[in-house]
Amino acid sequence: MKACIIEQIHQNPVFKDIPMPVANEHQEIIRIKASSLNHRDMYITQGLYPGIRLGAVMGSDGCGVNSLGQEVIINPSLDWGDNQHFQSKQFRVLGVPDDGTFADYIAIDKKNVHPKPEHLTFAEAAALPLAGLTAYRSLFKRAGLKEGDKVLISGVGGGVAAMAMQLALAAGCQVAVTSGTDTKLQRASDLGADFGYSYKDEAWTKKLINDMGGIDVVIDSAGGPGFRHFIRIANPGGRIVFYGGTLGNIDGINPQQVFWKQISILGSTMGSDEDFSEMLDFVNIHKIKPVISDVLQFDDILSGFETMQKSGQIGKIVFDHTY
Ligand SMILES: NC(=O)c1ccc[n+]([C@@H]2O[C@H](COP(=O)([O-])OP(=O)(O)OC[C@H]3O[C@@H](n4cnc5c(N)ncnc54)[C@H](OP(=O)(O)O)[C@@H]3O)[C@@H](O)[C@H]2O)c1
Repeated sequence: MKACIIEQIHQNPVFKDIPMPVANEHQEIIRIKASSLNHRDMYITQGLYPGIRLGAVMGSDGCGVNSLGQEVIINPSLDWGDNQHFQSKQFRVLGVPDDGTFADYIAIDKKNVHPKPEHLTFAEAAALPLAGLTAYRSLFKRAGLKEGDKVLISGVGGGVAAMAMQLALAAGCQVAVTSGTDTKLQRASDLGADFGYSYKDEAWTKKLINDMGGIDVVIDSAGGPGFRHFIRIANPGGRIVFYGGTLGNIDGINPQQVFWKQISILGSTMGSDEDFSEMLDFVNIHKIKPVISDVLQFDDILSGFETMQKSGQIGKIVFDHTY
């Protein structure tokens, strides 16, 4: 079968013809119909991710058909464990070191296989798992999101961020977003965002305070020097959740503002099996369709990496495996 492999770091992944996977007693074989790209895949090719196994099949997100002909979607959280508060030591994200979804077929634990939401095409379903799970846990489990909360999603062009915006809007929240480009802000507005600001505009926090008063929940993946702004714009009791650190260490936080306003700063990663099931229920109830930036042929996977490198996308870059 055809598979996209990480052969060397600092090199593009390569397509190889490899043997069909063999399922153990806990697993089943899925014919992949669509997969999608995450920032994680890029970090792996750059050697910036722990536990890289050279020769492994890449890809965390996928959906397809099982041996009974059922349409299914794959939970990329492996061995989360029983504790809902944090993952076990055995926890891994699917796709390096374990063989992932950038292939014709995958052998995957039966407990990670769920029915594909019926309102989603294969391409839409492939955009959902990792971004949906990370966004769901950040918003609902970590930030305790409630209807009517004022929410800020930073860098809305990101796959998880775009998903978080959609989930927060569906939950009945007022949602503001930031982005580096006006086209992405316009797209977010078209999708229902109430306010949008360029994080390159030094006055963006002032504009947000004028428009919204303050923010109850922030969802961020950038970290870095801009993180301190979230403390200033947070309402008393505000929750600031981050699941990434693309721009590096956080500094310049004023402790007085954090304790006086009773602000919670919360880290989040992926989610449990329970979170994944709840996320699917929420997506099914609200008929949410993930934001897709591009659908490329599986053969064209490298141009997906190039687009992500340039931050050219809003939402997810999907690969169609039905050639
Ligand atoms: N902990 C977890 O479970 C988990 C899960 C998924 C992702 N992550 C991490 O989260 C990060 C994003 O992942 P992704 O897959 O969503 O990547 P992605 O689709 O490539 O998105 C990255 C986004 O970062 C945003 N960004 C760049 N500069 C920014 C700034 N100065 N302020 C705010 N946002 C900025 C950009 O937003 P604009 O394009 O709008 O400017 C860009 O779209 C990565 O570091 C990834 O490793 C962690």
